Amino acid sequence: MNELPVYVLNGPNLNTLGTRRPEVYGHATLTDVEANVRARAQTYGLDVVFEQSNYEGQIVEWIQQARTQACGIVINPAALTHYSVAIHDALEMCEVPVVEVHISNVHRREAFRHTSFVSPQATAVIAGAGILGYEFGVDVVAQHLGLR
Ligand code: DQA
Repeated sequence: MNELPVYVLNGPNLNTLGTRRPEVYGHATLTDVEANVRARAQTYGLDVVFEQSNYEGQIVEWIQQARTQACGIVINPAALTHYSVAIHDALEMCEVPVVEVHISNVHRREAFRHTSFVSPQATAVIAGAGILGYEFGVDVVAQHLGLR
């Protein structure tokens, strides 16, 4: 096992995955996402801290924690993506790889979803791959750590 875990952070409304607009986000729940991510991370010997919050400040605190306690961050900031300067600034201080994940292809959707305050701070951006995007996010972190 790598000493530090990957932080997988989820923003507002992602706790409702599975029932929220399944035609956009699919039928899998966040618990399914967590199980998949843990399995993928294990193939690299990586542990996972998996969190979700509907509160911006809580996400900022986890990002600050990740600076010293994570080997990388996979983050779906959800709606906060499109307006949170606080998340942008918190990520700016992180030296670990950061992968921004969106389940849906935000670029195919409403114009307000085309702006991301997170992408300028991200090592990689994955959108439209469904929940598989989270596993790809772990792959990218592992690649940056030289584990693949
Ligand atoms: C999302 C896309 C965002 O625009 C939206 O606000 C979400 C989920 C996605 O995973 O596709 O809550 O981040």
